[in-house]
Amino acid sequence: MTDHKTRLAVFCSGTGSNFKALHRSIAEKKINAEFLICLSNRSTCGAIHYARENGIPAIQMAENQYSDYDSFTEAMLDALKIYRIEYIILAGYMRKVPDAVVDAYRERIVNIHPALLPKFGGEGMYGINVHKAVLAAGESESGATVHMVDEEYDRGRIVLQQKVPVLPGDTPETLALRVLACEHELYPRALRKILEEMNASDAP
Ligand code: GRF
Repeated sequence: MTDHKTRLAVFCSGTGSNFKALHRSIAEKKINAEFLICLSNRSTCGAIHYARENGIPAIQMAENQYSDYDSFTEAMLDALKIYRIEYIILAGYMRKVPDAVVDAYRERIVNIHPALLPKFGGEGMYGINVHKAVLAAGESESGATVHMVDEEYDRGRIVLQQKVPVLPGDTPETLALRVLACEHELYPRALRKILEEMNASDAP
């Protein structure tokens, strides 16, 4: 491990339980990184509260605050530049990352999805919809996927996956809880892997 702590931004729209799990792993020194900003399309949410309570600047950045999409994208790129962000962590971010940001952070934007991609991904496959679709398809297992983000929803390179069983009598809600618990274990493990591989490839 190098001494350099990788500079992270987290993008969230909701509870931020994955953000919290990652932040805990960093505090426990399992990941050599630090969160510099929390960016949200919402003015308030669990993730923003958590960031502020933990001394991490939290910024609301929503398209409707800007005159057009280009200005919004520019503002996002500026914020990332000001904080010298190296990796962007999506943790329940309910908006598409602008293409210009994906391009500027190629292979450096990470997302977690509550299913075993490439199944049950794509536009509209978020939140409880995913678990409803898994049950409707009669799957015997589900799980979570950590993947790199590209211009298409849920299609970037898969980093790690972790499975959970679908149990008799599961409802979308019970399955969602089991998958979320698995995400909290998987995301820190996957981020650690990504950063270790990045450091290894940077080594002389
Ligand atoms: C998680 O299920 C994640 O897979 C999806 O959004 C949810 C976020 O939950 N992308 P939280 O805000 O981290 O609690």
